[in-house]
Amino acid sequence: MIDFEKIRSSFPILDVKVNDNKLVYFDNAATTQTPTQVTNSIRDYFNKQNSNIHRGVHHLSNISTEDFEQSRKKVKEFIGAEKEEEIVFTKGTTDSINLVATSFQKFLKSGDEILISEMEHHSNIVPWQLCAEKTGAKLKVVSVTKEGEIDIDHLEKLLNKKTKILSITHISNTLGTINPITEITKLARKFDTKVFIDGAQAIAHQKVNVTELDVDFYCFSAHKLYGPTGVGILYGKEEILEKLPPYQGGGEMIEMVTFEKTTYAKLPSKFEAGTPNISGVIALSKAIEFIEDINLGLIFEYEAMLLNHYNEKSNKLEYYEPFGTSLNKSAIASFNLKKVHHYDIGVLLDNMGVAVRTGHHCTQPLHKKFNLAGTIRASFGIYNTKNEIDYFFDCLSRAYKMLY
Ligand code: ALA
Repeated sequence: MIDFEKIRSSFPILDVKVNDNKLVYFDNAATTQTPTQVTNSIRDYFNKQNSNIHRGVHHLSNISTEDFEQSRKKVKEFIGAEKEEEIVFTKGTTDSINLVATSFQKFLKSGDEILISEMEHHSNIVPWQLCAEKTGAKLKVVSVTKEGEIDIDHLEKLLNKKTKILSITHISNTLGTINPITEITKLARKFDTKVFIDGAQAIAHQKVNVTELDVDFYCFSAHKLYGPTGVGILYGKEEILEKLPPYQGGGEMIEMVTFEKTTYAKLPSKFEAGTPNISGVIALSKAIEFIEDINLGLIFEYEAMLLNHYNEKSNKLEYYEPFGTSLNKSAIASFNLKKVHHYDIGVLLDNMGVAVRTGHHCTQPLHKKFNLAGTIRASFGIYNTKNEIDYFFDCLSRAYKMLY
């Protein structure tokens, strides 16, 4: 059983008033709120141990280095990776994708193909476009069905021996669709295509095991996992990370520097140039502990129940137009209301204390395909309740009446 009072009491921000209303925070796909376990860790870090890591002989540096590396170990266990060397800390999901899309250029030549899907976030499109421009590789795009699922037949048609890397999202930030990663990876393996998964929307909502998924790369951000902003994780299989050249040069990522030649540090330091977000990485381990204490299996069930409740309510509104109707969905609901602008609804909801995202959610090509200028998106987290959903629908019908 989920101890709700305990969970909600870890998030003081949930008591904030917005326009004299209690905050209802339904923008969890953009960022999740941060529990006191995490904010206390950041405060304690600066009050008690602030120092640089991996380079000092002094007490503060030693304890910070140890905590930083403990966090790496925690991430490794959390996602079922085989080795700590396979966990690279970055600035976020975008940074992780850019890292691979840049370093992987070494293995691409003109005529090779990179495969993505129509449901990708801009951060899983643009880095690959840059990569294609640099290398002469072609960017191919798998279609999405009208329900908002990856068209597996189309994927099979596009995969071939020129497909060097396939990069898709685990869960769509707009449609909420949970993609069948194991099935997709098996198809890619037939052509020795490397598989990169953007796990930003999955990691806090279901158990992820990168070894069972058999993916080559998996990335996510701490701030969508109840952790701080500015910290990302890139998992990569050791044998592939070994072969990739460094992404950025600087301190920490070297073994030996001379003006003639530099040799690089071993994994994962090779990809961690410069001083990282030390307090953020350490606080990430507190976010993981927070989630593990609740249990990801229970989180998945709980959020599925929230989505069910949401769907029961939305199905009764004849003016509600859902975007993304896959049966295999995470707790993300994008929609429009007939004949009113998504932005106006967002503003009126905000007046009533409800935080949602409006617009294209960084998926312009996906919206364009379905002739949508934008949508309203409600996305749920572990602290949300059925009562909040009921309040949301009261507000939504009030807003609709005001506009139409
Ligand atoms: N990727 C985040 C979102 O979908 C920012 O809102």
